[in-house]
Amino acid sequence: MKISIGSDHAGWELKEEIKKYLKEKNVDFQDEGPFDESAVDYPDYAQKVGTAVVSKKATAGILICGTGIGMQIAANKIKGIYAALVDNTFTAEMCRKHNNANVLVMPGRLIGKTLAREITNIWLKTDFEAGRHAQRMDKIKEMENKNFK
Ligand code: RB5
Repeated sequence: MKISIGSDHAGWELKEEIKKYLKEKNVDFQDEGPFDESAVDYPDYAQKVGTAVVSKKATAGILICGTGIGMQIAANKIKGIYAALVDNTFTAEMCRKHNNANVLVMPGRLIGKTLAREITNIWLKTDFEAGRHAQRMDKIKEMENKNFK
């Protein structure tokens, strides 16, 4: 497994914490930046992480901005990206089991480091349940084919 991780300035501190967590868990990752806390535009990093995932350079992605909303909106503009904004352990599990979310988005200004580590742990270890959920994901893929050029 290889994780592509990125943030904006508002998510930078939490990104550094999650990198520490991934190292502790021996999960390989690629940091797509930014590399300091200077102000940046979150879509640039959603693009980098999303591209790494759809090109299969990474297995999955993690994005962090202030609220998580901007990163979620931007990442979901990439065909093949299913980005889920998560701020609790229940949806960390459900976005894998039911939605097969391949990008985890967290709000750096809303959750603490301990909860973010827990969310990441659950998200990484939970598999897609498929079955009835696969047929719904297939409908989302049909929507992509209709609506994305
Ligand atoms: C940056 O100030 C902030 O707008 C950004 O991190 C994010 O919350 C956007 O959705």
